[in-house]
Amino acid sequence: MSQDILIHTEAGVCTITLNRVDKKNSITADMYAAMADALATAEADAAVRVVVFQGDIAIFSAGNDIGDFLNKPPAGMNSPVFRFLHNLAAFPKPVVAAVCGPAVGIGTTMLFHCDLVYAGDNAAFSMPFVNLGLCPEAASSLLVPQMLGYHRAAEALLLGEPFMAEAALEVGLVNRVVPPTECNGVAQTVARKLAAKPLTSLVETKRLMKGGQSALVVQRMAEEGASFGRMLGEPAAKEAFTAFLEKRRPDFSQV
Ligand code: COA
Repeated sequence: MSQDILIHTEAGVCTITLNRVDKKNSITADMYAAMADALATAEADAAVRVVVFQGDIAIFSAGNDIGDFLNKPPAGMNSPVFRFLHNLAAFPKPVVAAVCGPAVGIGTTMLFHCDLVYAGDNAAFSMPFVNLGLCPEAASSLLVPQMLGYHRAAEALLLGEPFMAEAALEVGLVNRVVPPTECNGVAQTVARKLAAKPLTSLVETKRLMKGGQSALVVQRMAEEGASFGRMLGEPAAKEAFTAFLEKRRPDFSQV
């Protein structure tokens, strides 16, 4: 069985670790499937009260595996990436994330569905969908403007430029910035604190805080998913992915 996703449950906390460091924790269809299944199991398992996502001290995730985008793009809402996003967005128990190093694409957008986010001071968040000939996913076209305000969202989503941990703290995407060596530990400490609280209250409070937003998120994910799926097969994306794999700059002059 693949070790690209590690799952460990202890003291009420299920920790999901991205562990494909040689490929910068880029996420394959199999990894999405493993995380989607882990979330479904964690939701049903009374012994799990909190979920933690973490990566490596130097890289959280380089986003979707670009080879997969070219060779086996997600087909429809039952594909592993959409199952993962849906299970995460709808996950009823608290979710904590520890982010060090680059968090690219879904590495950043998934954080909008986590409840508490701790960042190493080396964290760099980016959503370069436009630079890849794509459009936002994970309801980020809804959630990023809501959190950052429209103009900063335009900087993040139209320019696709990275922003660092301190900027993420300022806009409220992360709760605290800590030295990278302490980040996973801080997330675990907070998760255990949550796990000691009454689960019924945590679940109800999270549900109430999300309020009517949940239906909007599902609707926006579906809308984005349709555009994203179409754009994956179009010339701009093909040029961007091929250029990445050929280690050259993309040429968008013809698209
Ligand atoms: N998909 C597939 N492979 C990826 C990848 C991705 N998203 N990101 C990195 N890798 C692979 C590289 O191809 C390389 O493989 P190789 O050693 O076989 O050549 C290896 O991981 C190391 O990547 P490299 O780019 O050399 O590392 P870096 O430290 O210089 O840069 C990043 C790290 C994350 C900044 C850079 O890898 C990057 O920008 N990745 C693409 C991010 C992206 O556009 N993701 C899609 C978002 S939707």
